[in-house]
Amino acid sequence: MMKITVSVIKADIGGFVGHSSVHPRLLETADAKLEQAKLEGMLIDYHVTHVGDDLNLIMTHKLGVDAEEIHQLAWDTFLACTEEAKKLKLYGAGQDLLSDAFSGNIKGMGPGFAEMEFEERTSEPLLVFMADKTEPGAWNYPLYKMFADPFNTAGLVIDPKMHEGFIFEVHDLQENSRVQLGAPEELYDLLVFLGAPSRYAVKYVYHKQSGEIAAASSTQKLNMLAGRYVGKDDPVLIVRAQNGMPAVGEVLEPFSNPHLVSGWMRGSHVGPLIPVSVNQSAPTRFDGPPRVVGLGFQLSSGELVGPQDFFADVAFEKARQKALDIADYLRQLGPFEPHRLPLSDMEYTTMPQVMNKLKGRFTKIDK
Ligand code: F6R
Ligand code: MG
Ligand code: MG
Repeated sequence: MMKITVSVIKADIGGFVGHSSVHPRLLETADAKLEQAKLEGMLIDYHVTHVGDDLNLIMTHKLGVDAEEIHQLAWDTFLACTEEAKKLKLYGAGQDLLSDAFSGNIKGMGPGFAEMEFEERTSEPLLVFMADKTEPGAWNYPLYKMFADPFNTAGLVIDPKMHEGFIFEVHDLQENSRVQLGAPEELYDLLVFLGAPSRYAVKYVYHKQSGEIAAASSTQKLNMLAGRYVGKDDPVLIVRAQNGMPAVGEVLEPFSNPHLVSGWMRGSHVGPLIPVSVNQSAPTRFDGPPRVVGLGFQLSSGELVGPQDFFADVAFEKARQKALDIADYLRQLGPFEPHRLPLSDMEYTTMPQVMNKLKGRFTKIDK
């Protein structure tokens, strides 16, 4: 038996063009850095990819979660890519690196990360989801469907290995606190939180019977970390599939109904999360719509055999069409809620200036 850690660490360190995609030279730079780390034996394997303007490092190793060496490697890789981004004058070069100095853990420094450690099973199918123009709570709906909804996941009803259900660890991103809730017995309590994705996000899911980790997400709220708007908290998610976990198809199924997420244009609009292949992942229309890419791997003693670019498939074409129809409808609302986010959730606002300008023109209304 062999303990493997999967670390997915991502950052937006410069867009090509605007906030739409990652320049190939950055992907090459990251690849060279991680190849070196693999040759030196720090990494078992890696895969460099992107969704929209976010550079994603998918890595396997034996150092456990929160390993300083791995976080340092990701940080140094992002720094090297920032150099390139600056040379090319890419848009927002280095924007997600909030500090000049690395201090042992990438937490709170800008990049987002999801990590999990487990004993590799005889066969270990793994999915990595990456989204652009949205927030960590965007995974609440698909994770609920995958691990708690019998209309999505048939195994919850008919597979003895899944029938006891799963445990959700939910993080309160405002209070920085966590709670674990069991499904199905606490479903209604769970949904009170999952239905409020701007504040609560699922961090981990565990298989109840075995205690095994089933899913891990990134929950960094970049804008909150910095106390001001410095970039986006576009999230990643790792899910283990099959043999007691949801089947690959049960993991993918929630994305066939594009749900509405926050983060479109200027981080201040709601839009449908459209499932796309890596090659289709560059946002265009109104800097969106928000995108999700899903890559599959088979682990083989930590080696990442893959990827399988799942949403490239024809089976997601209807979902894409539906998302585009929803996008058409929402765009017609222009600056009106609920297309535009409520005042408290917007990343851009002119409210203070406008209120200041109109100071004195507001008068009290008599009862
Ligand atoms: C960035 C994003 C974009 C930008 C928009 C304005 O992830 O969502 O929609 O917010 O392009 O960007 P600036 O203010 O940099 O011109
Ligand atoms: Mg960007
Ligand atoms: Mg992004």
